[in-house]
Amino acid sequence: MEKLMIKGGRPLYGHVPISGAKNSALALIPATILAESVTVIENLPGIRDVQVFEEILRRLGAEVIRDGDTLRIDGRQLRNLPMDDSSVKKLRASYYLMGAMLGRFGEAVVGMPGGCNLGPRPIDQHIKGFEALGAQVVYKDGSIHLTASHLKGARIYLDVISVGATINIMLAASRAEGVTVIENAAKEPEIIDVATLLSSMGARIKGAGTDVIRIRGKRSLQGCRHSIIPDRIEAGTYMIAAAATVGDVTVENVIPLHLEPLSAKLREMGITVKESDESLRVIGKENYQAVDIKTLPYPGFPTDLQQPFTSLLIQAEGTSLVTDNIYVSRFKHVDELYRMGADIRVEGRTARIRGGSSLHGATVRATDLRGGAALVVAGLAATGVTEIIGVDHIDRGYENLEKKLCSLGAEIWRV
Ligand code: EPU
Repeated sequence: MEKLMIKGGRPLYGHVPISGAKNSALALIPATILAESVTVIENLPGIRDVQVFEEILRRLGAEVIRDGDTLRIDGRQLRNLPMDDSSVKKLRASYYLMGAMLGRFGEAVVGMPGGCNLGPRPIDQHIKGFEALGAQVVYKDGSIHLTASHLKGARIYLDVISVGATINIMLAASRAEGVTVIENAAKEPEIIDVATLLSSMGARIKGAGTDVIRIRGKRSLQGCRHSIIPDRIEAGTYMIAAAATVGDVTVENVIPLHLEPLSAKLREMGITVKESDESLRVIGKENYQAVDIKTLPYPGFPTDLQQPFTSLLIQAEGTSLVTDNIYVSRFKHVDELYRMGADIRVEGRTARIRGGSSLHGATVRATDLRGGAALVVAGLAATGVTEIIGVDHIDRGYENLEKKLCSLGAEIWRV
């Protein structure tokens, strides 16, 4: 079992390049199934979830060639196989196989998706969308069975704003006859990224990034070349770590607008954030002010940064409230932070953080991806040595974490 060891208390200094967005990559790879020719995806992050998805496509019969951060996918020989094994069930984003295979083959059998345990994560809005497009959906033996003799565009109102449902419906609708309108759609940058790929393949998509998306499907789609947007959550994690260690770090190759909800909160705490065209510089200082955050769909504060941000708030003067409006149970990192000396109480969806405690190293367990990132931030800021177990969760979403942090002056190693 691998562990991450961190000798904390060293300010981070320097520049760090940000990889391609995990949550775009995990939608773009299955989206390539919709094309009848070769698609090349650039700026792919080297993370475990992406490797798992590459393997899934190979098992479906696609030729998948990885060259550095570029992936060439030839799906011409793709077969319609049931995808219900353990690797599919491990991955949250495997639900995109439903929309992609439904669009390509008119049918699909996909195991119920896994991913981080953040409380109930239903997929009823995905199913509502597929049914509106004309699919029959049956749940049997732990898998979803979808069939559609003919996919036809429809008007779909999402009862819950969902990134996954918005993208999944876009995937299936890209090969449906006529126009699909998604109302109350999610507006995350990753949705625009997927819409860009689907448009390059031949679908006509308008309104991605707003809450009404129109998709005019096409009977057949062609491969294309696409470069993934930067990972705003990876960038945000390094920005938070810079502030938590009272360092001075520039995250490079980012779209600053995507990080505005975080930059605004860092500034509210008294931290300097300087913006350039493609980079953001965070300069920490002693004595931060406590702030409250409420996670919301984009452009609100992202739930995926809530956990690392909690580790920063421990160092603020006063009491901060962190409310997660997206997931009911995204506070499993709190018990671990408690072992490191934090004073946090969780009531329902809200964590109350009494700032000003000094963190000390301890043995802690990552139980989910961003909770793991929160422990890394805490370990970097703490005195003494922190030992993090459950590293496989962190490897799902952060490329070269130790290498990037070491280049900023951190003492972090894997045993
Ligand atoms: N929801 C429903 N019904 C649905 C779909 C969602 O009730 O059919 C609820 C969820 O339970 C949740 C809320 O709606 O309370 C939002 O869920 P959403 O569908 O937007 O989440 P997701 O698509 O499953 C993606 C990211 C998550 C990120 C969320 C929110 C991927 C693979 N995952 O999940 O990323 O937290 O959007 O931004 O894109 C992470 O990277 O650590 C991560 C968990």
